[in-house]
Amino acid sequence: MSDAELARLVDKLDMAQKVRLVTGGTTWRTRAEPAVGLGEVVTSDGPAGVRGDSWDERNTSVLLPSASALAASWDEQLVEEMGRLLAREARGKGVHLVLAPNLNLHRSPLGGRHFECFAEDPELVARTGAALVRGLQRAGVAATAKHLVANDSETGRLTVDVRVDERTLREVYLLPFEAAVDAGVRAVMAGYNRVNGASMTASPLLTDIVKGEWGFDGVVLSDWGALRTAVDTARGGLDLAMPGPGGPWDDELVAAVRDGLVPQAALDDKVRRLLLLARRVGVLGPAPRPPRARPRPGRARRLLRRAASAGAVLLANDGVLPLREGELTSLAVIGAHADRPRVQGGGSAGVFPDRVVTPLDAIRARLGDGVRVVHSPGPDLPAGPAPLDIRHCADPRTGEPGVLLRVLDRAGHELGSERRLTGRLLEPPLPPGAHTVELSTLLTPPTGGEWLFGVAGFGRLTLSVDGRVLIDDDFPRRTDDPAVIHVDPPGPTAPAHLTAGLPVLVVARRQLAAGTGRATVLTAAPPPRAAGAALAEAVTAARHADAAVVVVGTTDSDESEGRDRTGLALPGHQDALVRAVAAANPRTVVVVNSGGPVELPWRETVNAVLLTWLPGQEGGDALAAMLLGDTEPGGRLPTTWGARLADVPVSATRPVDDVLTYAEGLHVGHRAWLRAGRTPAYWFGHGLGYTAWSYENVGAPRLLATGADFTVTVQVRNRGRRTGREVVQVYLSRDASAVERPVRWLAGYAAVTAAPGETVRVTVPVPARALRHWSVADRAWAVEPGVFTVHAGRSAGDLPLTAELRVPPEDPL
Ligand code: BGC
Repeated sequence: MSDAELARLVDKLDMAQKVRLVTGGTTWRTRAEPAVGLGEVVTSDGPAGVRGDSWDERNTSVLLPSASALAASWDEQLVEEMGRLLAREARGKGVHLVLAPNLNLHRSPLGGRHFECFAEDPELVARTGAALVRGLQRAGVAATAKHLVANDSETGRLTVDVRVDERTLREVYLLPFEAAVDAGVRAVMAGYNRVNGASMTASPLLTDIVKGEWGFDGVVLSDWGALRTAVDTARGGLDLAMPGPGGPWDDELVAAVRDGLVPQAALDDKVRRLLLLARRVGVLGPAPRPPRARPRPGRARRLLRRAASAGAVLLANDGVLPLREGELTSLAVIGAHADRPRVQGGGSAGVFPDRVVTPLDAIRARLGDGVRVVHSPGPDLPAGPAPLDIRHCADPRTGEPGVLLRVLDRAGHELGSERRLTGRLLEPPLPPGAHTVELSTLLTPPTGGEWLFGVAGFGRLTLSVDGRVLIDDDFPRRTDDPAVIHVDPPGPTAPAHLTAGLPVLVVARRQLAAGTGRATVLTAAPPPRAAGAALAEAVTAARHADAAVVVVGTTDSDESEGRDRTGLALPGHQDALVRAVAAANPRTVVVVNSGGPVELPWRETVNAVLLTWLPGQEGGDALAAMLLGDTEPGGRLPTTWGARLADVPVSATRPVDDVLTYAEGLHVGHRAWLRAGRTPAYWFGHGLGYTAWSYENVGAPRLLATGADFTVTVQVRNRGRRTGREVVQVYLSRDASAVERPVRWLAGYAAVTAAPGETVRVTVPVPARALRHWSVADRAWAVEPGVFTVHAGRSAGDLPLTAELRVPPEDPL
């Protein structure tokens, strides 16, 4: 559709119609406008999956590995395939705009959304993010680059003012967004936070850089509820206020335009951009795009398995892996995560997976009857209020598995009811007159003792067990954060003594009131087991097996949107569990199931450490295949892992008086470690795979052509005994520079596969941007003439090869 045609459509609308369009119509949809043939643009979160425009456990989705795992593959082609898979899911669910990728950085390992972001390094984030954008958009679905910008941690995220200098902003935090715009991303989401004093929804960065310098022609939408003022935001670069209906624009914008506070042209531009987006995703014009089928399960599963092993990082291995099947008669599979893995992180990106393959089931299936697999969960993990385990719950009316949801009016009459498969009802259907949400279930306790029940959500809450009232409380809302109010609300808990096998009726109610959100969650945690006995049982299992696989990890309360982590230690007794198992079995493999870094204090005493991240629905099968050597763990760390939180040079996420200062400037991630002269447990880029490599030589252009992308050639040899994939990394450094620089920085990478004994020359593409820096004095990109050193190797801390590269003096970029 041409600009003139778009302009004609905009002209057909009166002011009220235009203002209606620039605020969402519902939580997930924009508004339709029949006068111009405009349908609703349907949005849905990503990037772990596409939930669709409702939170309903019956509406399942394919669940991908976490973003940290995708970036760990260092494989843009694979990430593009993941984008296509997401697009397919989106089209199957009638979704036009996926709210991903998340391009914020792993600035601190404590960042609550670490799992949802790609990496600590701007170049790796830029390339991975652009690949996901391409994959989604080439398949006809719009992507959203979020959250512009410097929204790298969660503490105080609604109000924090991030202070970051101009050069760092350009070179580190904006770079991935610039790459996404270059890749044609259709939407950019402005974050909740402020940057250098300006709220991101009103920031001059939107107009000056994103739309001005970069020429972004898509829609800038607000993060959900981020818009808090009308005039400054409407005058600025924000185009669409989400969610709706309501919000500052709805009420005030008509008057602001009439009074000349907001130029008519600014409003018209927003509408024009929205129409263009609608056109691009097929909801503007005569023939709406037909829905497509959801991804075919077999194909999706194969792809997800491949992705889960491509991103898994083998940190250490003394040769125990891959396990030799022929030498195994028994295997101990230890740890709660083996049976109940964490497959995704918490918060708005959550989906209801089509299925989850657990490590335990997959290992059993892979080994068959020939090997005795013994599972011992070890001590309980510290759980907050635990989600109801639906396996022990029945609808009290029908006896079918699940929970009965009833919506009641003020007089207590039932307005609607349905059986649900979870105690976590985030968006229950609310017919007119809805006053109370009730969840009830017949729980048959598998174990007797003191259970802990809870009801989470805001407002008036009650909970009873067999008619005995345990909770009757006013629980006022304490936050404005939508991820807490609508996705993961807290709530009171109370104990009750149950007898194993004797069913009890549990009834939770929440009265609905303005501003208390829609989420109502019924929780029930079984009595804790004695840690000592559980540890002893695990040790016994390990002692009597040929090898032990211990699966450890974080819990839902550690890694989630809406809050940052407070430490990096594995929760509960897991460190003790690993130590005890390693002492009992000389072939102990530790599998780490977390979205971001954790401390591994026992790493020198075990035989192998394998990170699987939050691996998505097929993680179990991928793990079994890696353990047994059917596939190689292909990942390399997208973020440096410190031995202890105390060693991490940049970790603070807590604002002081609402200000968070990025005092480290350009020196984030491995750059910070290098500058501090500290050695982490594992460097950015590290990962072993199942073969060994020699780095033989490197070739770089001696003299660089003006402002051009270039390539570095690296010769490597597979000196191991099996075919493998290596990620060859190229970094740059600069001696005697007139400008401040990182000690060295990632410039490019490329993967290669080689057979045993094979020597290969790898061509590593390096974009011209690797050489530029932002000149604050000139307010422009610049390249400093002179000699740069090119380093090639396996990680930021293992770079055996160097070459020189000269930029001639007259070289303007
Ligand atoms: C998150 C966004 C998300 C939005 C809609 C917000 O709380 O920060 O990433 O897209 O909710 O769920």
